[in-house]
Amino acid sequence: MPTKPSRTWSTGHHVAARALDAALEATIVASFSRVGAVLRRATQGWPPVASMEGRTILVTGASSGIGRASALALSRAGADLWVTGRDEGRLEELAEQIRAGGTTVHTAALDVTDAERVDDLARRISEDAAGLSGIIHSAGALTHEFATNAQGVETTVATHVLAPFRLTLRLAPLLRAATLSTIVTVASGGMYTERFDLSRLEMGPGDYDGVKAYARAKRAQVLLAHEWSRRWGRDGVRSYVMHPGWTDTPGLATSLPTFHRLGPLLRRVDEGADTAVWLASGAAGETGTTSGIWLDRRARGEYYLPWTRPRRSAQADGDELWRWCERRSGLDLPPTQ
Ligand SMILES: NC(=O)c1ccc[n+]([C@@H]2O[C@H](COP(=O)([O-])OP(=O)(O)OC[C@H]3O[C@@H](n4cnc5c(N)ncnc54)[C@H](OP(=O)(O)O)[C@@H]3O)[C@@H](O)[C@H]2O)c1
Repeated sequence: MPTKPSRTWSTGHHVAARALDAALEATIVASFSRVGAVLRRATQGWPPVASMEGRTILVTGASSGIGRASALALSRAGADLWVTGRDEGRLEELAEQIRAGGTTVHTAALDVTDAERVDDLARRISEDAAGLSGIIHSAGALTHEFATNAQGVETTVATHVLAPFRLTLRLAPLLRAATLSTIVTVASGGMYTERFDLSRLEMGPGDYDGVKAYARAKRAQVLLAHEWSRRWGRDGVRSYVMHPGWTDTPGLATSLPTFHRLGPLLRRVDEGADTAVWLASGAAGETGTTSGIWLDRRARGEYYLPWTRPRRSAQADGDELWRWCERRSGLDLPPTQ
């Protein structure tokens, strides 16, 4: 089982570690902050991430923060990589560091909300003989100003929902062809404040609120991640959604400066990235692929607040979101000849 600590630990120790985990989770602040990461690692005997040699993983948002830390950890585990972000210079600097460690890395500088560039990237990856056996969707940002992409889609939903939808759909043939594929979506604990409601997902210029738009998009990511498992799980594709707690990244400093003043209570980037990398390695098995959101190597509940619970089945919401993503991405139309 994925969360089973080392066999040398006594049953009493496991029970105590489990109780501590539950106590941390009940407080939220301790759970999401560095306190949770440090105490859980210390008491649960987390094994190192297993070798990922022979696997090729795509990391979006790899030019900074959690995505960058994930890429470095994956390469240390032996995985070959595709790394994306908008800033070519930062991607190249990362690639140099990865190559120095001896693994292969390809860079692709692009805005994930640019559908054509996403399609180009998928084509490049599909033409590469190594194939692809995993994606970490880390690209994301909380933006306080309303903006739209070239297709007129509000940027928060375009970045967090439609971009991973399109990219994953384009790469699905490769993922389904691999013996084991893992998709990891980096969502946010902010999603706990919002219920999924498609009619309120894409906000307009009049009512735009960056924090709400972000939380709603992150809630939608949870559904989307579970849809990938539901649709492709029988082909060996495991999709997980996790949140990194509160992690000290350039993105957090810019988008939530007040929050950033938590200083030493914030997780280090490697701690924020740990669960994403561990999930990408396949260590969790099939646990938590169709429900739950992971934090600190354990699948946790998707709801803290009663009013955020779905009014119908997650599958009905997931189907509705899927159809909306197809329509809003123009992917529901038959291809033109
Ligand atoms: N830090 C936290 O406490 C925290 C908490 C919950 C969830 N998260 C999530 O963790 C993920 C990583 O965030 P972070 O904190 O590591 O922030 P970060 O340091 O700002 O990194 C964000 C990454 O996403 C990329 N990105 C953003 N918008 C993009 C776009 N339109 N196209 C292509 N790349 C784009 C950025 O690329 P550029 O370099 O080109 O800007 C950067 O590589 C995000 O999904 C975020 O929502 C973070």
